[in-house]
Amino acid sequence: EPRNSVVRGAFVVVEGLDRAGKTTQVQRLCSKLYALGHNIKTLRFPDRNSTIGQMISSYLQNETDMDDHVIHLLFSANRWEKAKWIEETLSKGYTIICDRYFYSGMVYSAAKQNPSLSLSWTKHPEIGLPLPDVVVFLDLEPWQAEQRGGYGEEKYEKREMQLRVRELFLQLLKADDGRMKIVNAGDGMDAVEERIWKEVLPCVEAVEGGSFGVKIG
Ligand code: TMP
Repeated sequence: EPRNSVVRGAFVVVEGLDRAGKTTQVQRLCSKLYALGHNIKTLRFPDRNSTIGQMISSYLQNETDMDDHVIHLLFSANRWEKAKWIEETLSKGYTIICDRYFYSGMVYSAAKQNPSLSLSWTKHPEIGLPLPDVVVFLDLEPWQAEQRGGYGEEKYEKREMQLRVRELFLQLLKADDGRMKIVNAGDGMDAVEERIWKEVLPCVEAVEGGSFGVKIG
């Protein structure tokens, strides 16, 4: 059970290109926070377990084709399915570490270059979702990502797409209010882990200690 002294948990999001090492880094971050006595829950998007998540998974594996707007709205709906759980879990004092969130939602859809699917259009269905306290963007150049064993079979794992995704992530960073932290993910796992830790720990401590208000919407 969460410690009584925790005002609320922190909402931490880890973002990045495919193969940036997000999954490994999320695991390491969770273990370190857990070892310090923080109460942690993890989450990842897309959450392929729900009915909507299964539709997304089938699309990503090229089994179903969908209109760009439709798949965008399904990714968003897949987050809304979890919105209440996120709020309740944070208010119980658990810190949440989340692998991808609406930042991925926006940039991957906008990277398709569909003329009626601009970056600003993509944001609308995401408005009102619980806002993260800190977003770590693991930055990697697509050629570095490719050296990590090459891309797999999924829909977006192509160089042109990844280049545009990266540009759009960097565009979001420029417009950001300070919650997004860019972390160079091009080095070894240990160095990257250390960089993430320096960004995340102070934020988790501040939020759990009550220094930040509740940031919803
Ligand atoms: P994953 O590899 O982290 O499971 O993500 C699957 C793919 O889905 C990845 O290429 C990024 C993409 N994606 C979107 O296009 N929109 C979204 O909202 C999310 C969360 C992921």
